[in-house]
Amino acid sequence: MPAAHLYVARTLTAAVMDELPGLGVPLVVGEIAPPTRERLLTDVAGAVAAIVTLTERIDAEFFDAAGSQLKVVANVAVGFDNIDLAEAKRRGVVITNTPGVLDDATADHTVAMLLALTRRVVEADRFARSGEPWIWGPTMMVGLDISAGATLGIVGFGRIGRAVARRAAAFGMRIVTASTDLEPGTQVAGVDVVTLPELLATSDVVSLHVPLLPSTRHLIDGAAIASMKPGAYLINAARGGVVDEAALIEALRSGRLAGAALDTFEGEPTINPALRELDTVVLQPHIASAGDVTRDNMCRLAVRNVTRVLAGEPAETPVPLP
Ligand code: GLV
Repeated sequence: MPAAHLYVARTLTAAVMDELPGLGVPLVVGEIAPPTRERLLTDVAGAVAAIVTLTERIDAEFFDAAGSQLKVVANVAVGFDNIDLAEAKRRGVVITNTPGVLDDATADHTVAMLLALTRRVVEADRFARSGEPWIWGPTMMVGLDISAGATLGIVGFGRIGRAVARRAAAFGMRIVTASTDLEPGTQVAGVDVVTLPELLATSDVVSLHVPLLPSTRHLIDGAAIASMKPGAYLINAARGGVVDEAALIEALRSGRLAGAALDTFEGEPTINPALRELDTVVLQPHIASAGDVTRDNMCRLAVRNVTRVLAGEPAETPVPLP
């Protein structure tokens, strides 16, 4: 194991992998698949910097294994719920994430899920492939017309929530948002700010764009779901833990909710088999930011954060430590 190396836990995009040797730091690079916990702890030992992804748990054990020379951990994700920030602060390790560069890709994919869900695109594809006899019909596979006055409720109005709003506005949707840092009754970027209960009670589609924090875990629980418009839809391209999945499954099974599009899951990468059985659910394997340019930009930003910290400069996108 080289000393004072840069540990890269997962294979990054090809363009960025090509640039790594030019950094002039010894490298230890993992595979496309996530490292086992044992491999992670072995390979990070002695590192001065680590580039990790949301599949690695960065906690006291990780920092102990790395050693006190570790200066920076760069997460290739905007979310950082995989990292124990208090532990990083205690040890003086800089944590960085990748905000900004994935807003458009994530919003694009949210809209892809919105349309797939409301117009039954995935269900229709499954049906068309099934070989079942069919013929065009006035009532066949009718879905929600989002452009006919449907209301989109955006929970969380940060960069990604706002990018979703811009796109939804082009469809003519009525848009409301609820966000802890915005005052209900005001307007932001042309969008009405309401309370979360009001958003849940009035939205035909609710889309989640909040980080997973202790305060947002199960924000959408059984009571929140029960307060949604009957027949509403839920989209989650944030983190699985924001939704109480068991309560969601119950609401989908009973028809209380018309459907859900989920890019993230509580037990990720395990997907609850009950979700797989529901035709009204669109399932995505956590790919909302998986645009080709976006993934290069996320990896490049992580590398820039590492090089800056190793050069004694402030990180470009540090995560504020508690
Ligand atoms: C992906 O989920 C991210 O947090 O960037």
